[in-house]
Amino acid sequence: MEATISAVRALMDAKPRAALGFYPTPLYKLERLSEMLGVSLYIKRDDFSGMSLFGGNKVRKLEYLLGDAVAKGCDTVFTYGATQSNHAMQTVTACRRLGLAPILYLNAYVQPNENDIRSNMLLDRILGAEMHIVEGLDGETEADTEARCFAMGKAHAARLEAQGRECYDIPLGGASYIGSAAFIGGYCELREQCAQMKIDPDYLFTATGTGGTLAGLMAGRRLLDAKAKVIAVAVSRKSAEYEAKCASLANECLEWIGGDKRISAEDITVNRDYFAPGYEQPNEAATEAIRLLARTEGLLLDPVYSGKAFAGLLGHVRGGKITPGSTVVFWHTGGATALFAEKEILGPLAEAEGAC
Ligand SMILES: Cc1ncc(COP(=O)(O)O)c(C=O)c1O
Repeated sequence: MEATISAVRALMDAKPRAALGFYPTPLYKLERLSEMLGVSLYIKRDDFSGMSLFGGNKVRKLEYLLGDAVAKGCDTVFTYGATQSNHAMQTVTACRRLGLAPILYLNAYVQPNENDIRSNMLLDRILGAEMHIVEGLDGETEADTEARCFAMGKAHAARLEAQGRECYDIPLGGASYIGSAAFIGGYCELREQCAQMKIDPDYLFTATGTGGTLAGLMAGRRLLDAKAKVIAVAVSRKSAEYEAKCASLANECLEWIGGDKRISAEDITVNRDYFAPGYEQPNEAATEAIRLLARTEGLLLDPVYSGKAFAGLLGHVRGGKITPGSTVVFWHTGGATALFAEKEILGPLAEAEGAC
């Protein structure tokens, strides 16, 4: 395994990369919760990635995306997301570190209140990003509004390029093959830590949104022939083709780094039981999961991504889908700034009910 890890790392090292985060992120056992649940539960703290206080999974992706942007001589970066997008905020943070100009086209799923700008939007403002808030039009679906954001961003980039600027376009969630491949390195890091700790996980749980993190993890798992079954918990409604799309993204990552293995849609497990009622909309299971982890381990999740993913983990363990005594890793993808977002994103977490 060690020889394989260094061979995979050598493939990743051949790609341009901007050093942004602090790696390896910690991996450790949650002793109290393990005892309570009857499994050996470990947490991979990618929320601790840096580069600011508000880390998360996007920092890994941005190392390769912005590495590519710098290698191509770009000076301006466009990206997209919801108004409270972690990816957008982290892109802006990383751009500032590298001296690139960040421009955001943000979809107002949740309407920001100009008199009370919160969470990631507040950070985007402090960081001085150029922000364009795009509201949905009557009769438009969320996908239509997103498509309009991309079109506006492209037209804007074309105008800037005509004036001599060099623009780099990062898709939603940084989920291109370049961004997603970062999680091949993430999987190598996990395997190295597991070897040191003499554990061999049976399961790995993570949140899945655009699918980039999942695709990269699956590509890494395949290259290293790791045993852990990856269970990705969807944070928004996913089409029936989602698994196939993630598999093809994983294969693009593998091709890009020159890896000699491929995966198929059947290798991918996405659980759709924990996202309802929808993206950025809280639910009871996630609220309970956030309170439980906070009150047993002093650790914070968020209501949009990691809270729903952890609710999925709890549901699998409590429902007997995970054999007692199994070794389970929860990949904490960050996002805790959402704890300071609008009440409609936060849900009932501010209420005193449920204190224990
Ligand atoms: C905190 C957090 N967790 C998980 C995800 C999902 O990652 P991906 O979009 O790569 O599926 C995101 C994406 O925005 C995120 O911000």
